Amino acid sequence: MKRRILIDCDPGIDDALAILMALAAPELDVVGVTTVGGNVGVDATTRNALALATLAGRRVPVARGADTALVVDKKRAESVHGADGLGGVPLPAPAYAAEEAPAWEFIRDRAAEFRGELEIVAIGPLTNVALALSAYPETRERIKAIHLMGGSIGFGNATPAAEFNIVADPHAAAAVFQSGVPITMFGLDVTNRANLSAEGLEELRAVGGRALSPCCSMLDHYLAAYRSFGRDALALHDPLVVAWLIDPSLVETRPYRVDVETDGRYTSGKTIVDVHGVSKRPPNAEVGVELDAERFIALLTRLLRSYDEPGAAGPLGTD
Ligand code: BDR
Ligand code: CA
Repeated sequence: MKRRILIDCDPGIDDALAILMALAAPELDVVGVTTVGGNVGVDATTRNALALATLAGRRVPVARGADTALVVDKKRAESVHGADGLGGVPLPAPAYAAEEAPAWEFIRDRAAEFRGELEIVAIGPLTNVALALSAYPETRERIKAIHLMGGSIGFGNATPAAEFNIVADPHAAAAVFQSGVPITMFGLDVTNRANLSAEGLEELRAVGGRALSPCCSMLDHYLAAYRSFGRDALALHDPLVVAWLIDPSLVETRPYRVDVETDGRYTSGKTIVDVHGVSKRPPNAEVGVELDAERFIALLTRLLRSYDEPGAAGPLGTD
């Protein structure tokens, strides 16, 4: 049976690849996409999600969510993803509109519809997910699991201590980790190693195709941003979560207790991962610790290339 997933995201260049991979995967039934303000504002992330589904040829429902965090001031990552969130790369205009319902109601309704089956793939700040779980507590036991890109056992990327998705809404992240819903956490410890060098990007470009080509143009922008931080390879954070859903052998996880610092002077937004069990509290997450980067890139390439297979759907609105 296909895994039923809902993608909560802030596209975002790496989100864009993750969405296109998920929509291409025969193993996954994407029941909806919810958008949140994160890398860029929610107007742009919603438009981008609709444009990506249009490119994929899939009229998957998209529900717009929160633009700002529950408590802290908003943070954006336009320096990495560009002002429009996709590095200025043009995509087809959205062929349909977003849902009437806001993201948190959409999450509640899909959790009720697919009771015990729905897996949330959360690859942006966790505001929408936290709102759904707190406003509709019955939703907690209806969700099978939350698989999130966020946090780290070690250091941060948005601050020395904190990863972007968690520090962008630490109160929401804390609520999600305390919710009792089973969690898989893909932090920087593994996603920073889901790497693509300039040479790797050229190899991907040489494969080409109607989804891969715009993805490579987006990754040009993304790699330039990484280079401006002194790094020689880009990190495909969000796609790793989707790849793991399709092939769980790609990432090794371990059960740990994870809490989120919400008011540290230097550490706000840091995930505190109890690797040595010193708190004596039971684990609340499976945390990614190792990955097979080579097989991950091979899977990403295969999925994005599949848009060019004979019989694959073309973009919406171009029959
Ligand atoms: C995360 O932050 C965002 O910029 C990316 O899309 C990813 O979800 C990496 O820290
Ligand atoms: Ca993201």
